Amino acid sequence: MAKTIGILTSGGDCAGLNAVMRAVVHRADMLGWTVLGIGNGTAGLLETPRKLKRLTPQEFDGFAMRRGGTILGTTNSKDPFHYPMPDGSNKDRSDELIAALKEEGIEALIGIGGDGSFDILHRLAKQGGINMVGIPKTIDNDLAMTDLSVGFDTAVMIATEALDRLQPTAASHDRVMILEVMGRDAGHIALNAGIAGGADVILIPEIPYTIEAIAEKIKSVKEDGRNFALMIVSEAVKSPSGEKREVVYHGGETRYGGIGEYLGPKIAEATGFETRVTVLGHVQRGSSPTHNDRLLAQALGVKAVDLINEGAFGKMVAWQNRQAVGVPVEDAIKVCRTVDPQGFLVHTARSLGVSFGD
Ligand code: F6P
Repeated sequence: MAKTIGILTSGGDCAGLNAVMRAVVHRADMLGWTVLGIGNGTAGLLETPRKLKRLTPQEFDGFAMRRGGTILGTTNSKDPFHYPMPDGSNKDRSDELIAALKEEGIEALIGIGGDGSFDILHRLAKQGGINMVGIPKTIDNDLAMTDLSVGFDTAVMIATEALDRLQPTAASHDRVMILEVMGRDAGHIALNAGIAGGADVILIPEIPYTIEAIAEKIKSVKEDGRNFALMIVSEAVKSPSGEKREVVYHGGETRYGGIGEYLGPKIAEATGFETRVTVLGHVQRGSSPTHNDRLLAQALGVKAVDLINEGAFGKMVAWQNRQAVGVPVEDAIKVCRTVDPQGFLVHTARSLGVSFGD
């Protein structure tokens, strides 16, 4: 009898998740494993009936790899250790989840997630002796130990394209355009897209800024004869006095949002130039994956199954030096990998005349 790998997507979605599954399913089939998809992260095993779906190579032959999102569904609000119950309370359902994994005959579990998901899966693995391997995905690209996470390249492509689209309208109207992009606690999307999209100002949470320094840069752009300026700001950037800009959603959950709208009038006042703000939001997560994300996703997917087949568990598959390698999952979640203000990409941007507002 073939042994079973369970696979789930967890946390915020991104482009490339279905491409990971394609690789896992094909490699598993080749090595004699079957693959069981678990719906909605770990929550699919706590629902009645359980949300499970056998994944076959045939299903991943044609379209799935090209599609954004995740065909399994995902959630970032159903932590099994604090599971939200219908009466509004939270319950530890981790033992139920471990029992469900065993009842379903899942001998190894692949979690495609970010740091929050890996923390939960790692604790479950320790508690229940689960054979777990993680595959990194997050548009934020903030996981330690891996150069890249699935979904980042596509998000940067979308943000770059947004700057490309803002440039002609900025030039037509003599305006400063501010683009707010995602990145919970790390400025990788803003930095990468800012360089690729020719931003004049890049604001990231890792580098403190002042309105005066931003205004000085924008005025100098105009004095040099250009009639517009482009600025990209990461959602996690705080106000100059250190306040987070957040949106409160129904149920009290908070997410970053609002720094662009906060800065717009201040930049307009300090420069005297018309300023408009665009918030890119979840558009950054919903697209067919770029070729880089498809390649990364499938390389990491194959490696995850290889590790399982070798019995190497408790690992995250990382992309290092153009290779997929297994690293201890606890090393990947220890710290959030933020932008290094002394790093080469910041140096590159500064060398191109970009201001970080500092
Ligand atoms: O972590 C990925 C991410 O897209 C962040 O960049 C963003 O801050 C957050 O998720 C948004 O979360 P939600 O989908 O719950 O609004």
